[in-house]
Amino acid sequence: MTMAKPRIMVLGFGTVGQGFFELFNMKKHSLGLNNVTISEVVDAKFGHIIEPGDSIISELKGGKTYEKIDPVKAIMKSDADIVCEFTWLDLKTAEPAYSHIKAALGQGKHVITSNKGPSALKFRELNDLARKNNVQFKMKGTVMAGTPSFNLLELLPGIEVKSVRGIMNGTTNYILGRMVGGKDFNDALKEAQALGYAEADPTNDVDGFDTAAKIIIISNLLGWNHDFNNLKIEGIRKVTREQAANGTKLVAYADRNHAFVKPLQLQTGDILREVNGVMNAVEFETDTLGKIYSMGPGAGKIETAQSALTDLVSILNNWHK
Ligand code: HSE
Repeated sequence: MTMAKPRIMVLGFGTVGQGFFELFNMKKHSLGLNNVTISEVVDAKFGHIIEPGDSIISELKGGKTYEKIDPVKAIMKSDADIVCEFTWLDLKTAEPAYSHIKAALGQGKHVITSNKGPSALKFRELNDLARKNNVQFKMKGTVMAGTPSFNLLELLPGIEVKSVRGIMNGTTNYILGRMVGGKDFNDALKEAQALGYAEADPTNDVDGFDTAAKIIIISNLLGWNHDFNNLKIEGIRKVTREQAANGTKLVAYADRNHAFVKPLQLQTGDILREVNGVMNAVEFETDTLGKIYSMGPGAGKIETAQSALTDLVSILNNWHK
């Protein structure tokens, strides 16, 4: 089989899109991806950039803009094989990413996204559409950025996951850690925002919705039938400093029959109790290995770009064109 020359559309050229562009260019030679190109970029602010050059980011910073285009129209007429969807999050409607991904999969294009909206709320429909069109719908970046999470299960053929537990939101874990140090909740939240950890709307972090989306995405991938809108979700607003000091963390849990997000006091000796600051961690309880863990950053520009690179290489390793 000859490897074609895969072409990539980057849709959404904010922090994650630019991070991916930079990381892809930095790593493509060492990964042997010289035949792969980012052939176009579509962004609400910057417009439609065809064949972006290496200096595109500095040009855009200098004020250059391109003709605006409706993203769905751009997808419909694009010859890209892979669409990287990096637009903003909406955990109520999943839009506009949902429409973009639907259009891309419907056109027979592989999709990579770090957007939790479509992955948590529209998973089954989009996954079915991907299968029908014989393409992949990849979403590593939605759970713990580039840190291995559900994707490490791909290394474990036949393994059965009994349950999943995790600390999957850096902002809340950071806030709880600062509360252990004596800060009050609001000051700690402001710090987390200033450091760029919190979502644009911190409600998603502190009220547990971001964590909820992540445990739903893992459940979806494991074939468990939990629904984001019916999930029991409790955030950290009511956690006291004393509870934080006693090892209370915002925990996401799922098994086949149950799922929740809530603050829980973790026992001394529980590995998840030792996850500090903005670090994330996940525990899979399995049939053959017992408990396995992964820990690392769950957000950030290059950290999320890594997830898209991981998804890209996974798609290319299964390239059937
Ligand atoms: N705001 C999230 C966090 C990162 O604090 O972990 C993106 O999911």
